[in-house]
Amino acid sequence: MKKIKVKYIFYSAILMALSCGPTLNKSSTYNNKSIETKVDSLMNLMTLEEKIGQLNQYNGFYDVTGPTPKEGQAALKYEHLKKGWVGSMLNVKGTNEVRTLQKIAVEQTRLGIPLIFGFDVIHGYKTISPIPLAEAASWDLVAIERSAAVAAEEASAVGINWTFAPMVDVARDPRWGRVMEGAGEDPYLGSRIATARIHGFQGDNFNSNTKVLACAKHFAAYAFAEAGRDYNTVDMSEENLQNLVFPPFKASVDAGVRTFMNSFNELNGIPATASSYLQRTVLKGDWGFNGFVVSDWGSMLEMVNHGYVSNNKEAAEKAIIAGSDMDMESYAYVEHLSALVKEGKVKEAIIDDAVRRVLRTKFELGLFQNPYKYCDEQHEKNTVGKKEFQDDVLDMAKKSMVLLKNDNQLLPLATSGKKIAVIGALANDKTSPLGSWRIGADDETAVSLIEGLSKFPNNTVTYTKGVDVAIGRTQFMWETKINQTDTSGFAAAIENAKNADIVLMMLGEHGLQTGEGRSRTDLGLPGLQQQLLEEVYKVNKNIVLLLSNGRPLTIPWAAENIPAILETWQLGTQSGNAIAQVLYGEYNPSGKLPMTFPRSVGQLPLYYNYKNTGRPSSNEPESVFWSHYIDQKNTPQYPFGFGLSYSKFEYSNLKLSADTFANTDKIQATVEVKNTGKYRGKEVVQLYIQDLVGSLTRPVKELKGFEMVELLPNESRTISFSIDKKMLEFFTANKKWETESGDFNLFIGTNSQETLKTKFHYTN
Ligand code: NOJ
Repeated sequence: MKKIKVKYIFYSAILMALSCGPTLNKSSTYNNKSIETKVDSLMNLMTLEEKIGQLNQYNGFYDVTGPTPKEGQAALKYEHLKKGWVGSMLNVKGTNEVRTLQKIAVEQTRLGIPLIFGFDVIHGYKTISPIPLAEAASWDLVAIERSAAVAAEEASAVGINWTFAPMVDVARDPRWGRVMEGAGEDPYLGSRIATARIHGFQGDNFNSNTKVLACAKHFAAYAFAEAGRDYNTVDMSEENLQNLVFPPFKASVDAGVRTFMNSFNELNGIPATASSYLQRTVLKGDWGFNGFVVSDWGSMLEMVNHGYVSNNKEAAEKAIIAGSDMDMESYAYVEHLSALVKEGKVKEAIIDDAVRRVLRTKFELGLFQNPYKYCDEQHEKNTVGKKEFQDDVLDMAKKSMVLLKNDNQLLPLATSGKKIAVIGALANDKTSPLGSWRIGADDETAVSLIEGLSKFPNNTVTYTKGVDVAIGRTQFMWETKINQTDTSGFAAAIENAKNADIVLMMLGEHGLQTGEGRSRTDLGLPGLQQQLLEEVYKVNKNIVLLLSNGRPLTIPWAAENIPAILETWQLGTQSGNAIAQVLYGEYNPSGKLPMTFPRSVGQLPLYYNYKNTGRPSSNEPESVFWSHYIDQKNTPQYPFGFGLSYSKFEYSNLKLSADTFANTDKIQATVEVKNTGKYRGKEVVQLYIQDLVGSLTRPVKELKGFEMVELLPNESRTISFSIDKKMLEFFTANKKWETESGDFNLFIGTNSQETLKTKFHYTN
């Protein structure tokens, strides 16, 4: 016992000597010789088992976010912790719990290497921001960065120092429930948002205890699961990977993200966890990433189910060789790596590289300097849920809504003298607005719509539920069942609507009907809500439909018949206040859709940056032999980039400074935008480009820039975009990112469909 203590003091002294002030600024990190020297010195002291321990991540003892491969193994985990065989834990909540486990790592293991604590802080910890897809709809990079910074500050105050966010998967299929967790369908918008989120989480350095490591996930192509069914097979060309899937991941590396997570799916026959193309060639090779890659939950062991390996030992071998540095909950590394090294199947140098990556980030975080820097109980009390965070998530929520329809200026509502009927279970729900993936937050902590409306007391509001969206929660993972039978509340709702001037119907998905494992084949309003909407419409047509959902829905009937539709997503803790303020015009909606809304599921996948076929829809021939459906249009219900305002914006005078340019030159595209409405408002001016002929066929349009402008009534402004060679680059038939000479169309407008158009020529 005495011996251990002496050892501990000895090694602690070494570690204190090794510790240094953390820096994150990319250039200083990448050249940070002092950190590298310290990592090397520490590694010289480590046994093989201790090294492998750094690559092992265990779930905490309470929450789980996936099926546990080794349920009930708490005793084993403690034992491994004490031996220094655990480098990281996830799902550990609160400074107390974090401190307890950190103490074991620091005081009871031979080398005292601190643990790093990960958690899914996806859109807030306890104070919940809108779901990421909703935030993306704001196109407001400053607000999005702030939202991530709030999440980081609150999460770090409860002991967390690593978030498994942002999810930067470009997603084209709304059947996939995890679209709620990303930035939508566009690689350019996704890249800008990934950068903002990473800056928000990580900041410029880790000197304080208010920042957390970010994690770009899921590498790669997870969102392209066949048929939108979560975890399903992915088959994708290199061209699509490069041009469509990789850009936000590459942007994440450029933004200095310190960790990556691989993905559950197989990609072209190889599970991503075992893909050395993804992890070694592209990420650590081409992109020079020097942080570490964590597997997804149990994804090593799942390679047995994929039929790629026959047991967990083979999984460990394939995964480590392919560049998966840390094993989340598969027990593959802790149980098998040591033997694999001894048998000569895995070189120790490969283990060393992975360990170096993990230790490097621990030094950067400042954990060696102070392993308890995230364990300040007083700071936790002062920080969690603080007023300033509430203001921030309210601001984000207002900016995230998208006005889809507003016939006859039904909105904004008059603030007095009106009888308002509010209908829909979601209007009175204090849990659903928190959305999916908010495991740190408590149920019933969101402001409901009814509560939000009560802050405007000069109208009369009467509420009736009408119908339940979901019945009950059946198990720990937020399972909900859709109500398919109970219409007993219809009559009261109809009666309520009959007597009202305006009906606000809040309909859509319960917050727990999207997210991981929640793919859907029907994207209509779940359960009996569509029926309720149509019944209410029969007695009062003055309906404002408040959509609450975590993915694009198909709402053809509502789009045709309901005069006003506001997309409110799942807006987080301040949901009801935000919606009420928008309804009453205190905030003029400014969001734009980050994902196409289809007319029907049969159109999926449907996205704006598609390619022309040999028989394109623009030619609409009279014969049947062109690329179309015989029972549905090709066009979406609402296109990417779409969103109205209480004001109107007119675009004119699109001009180029020159209609041809070469190599190092630039040209300017300018357009005039005028607010012709009655209200001050914000507009996201969008720039799209089409490369008319390429060595590989090119999309009909690609977003290449956007600018938010705020205008008073009658005010106009000239918006300018600079066009250069880089903007025209793509992954060509030469398997290189390069720009090809040729003709280009340039579009500027209010969404991906309504634009002004001009053209230019570029020469290399
Ligand atoms: C599985 C999910 O795919 C991943 O995104 C998440 O971070 C982990 N579980 C940990 O909860």
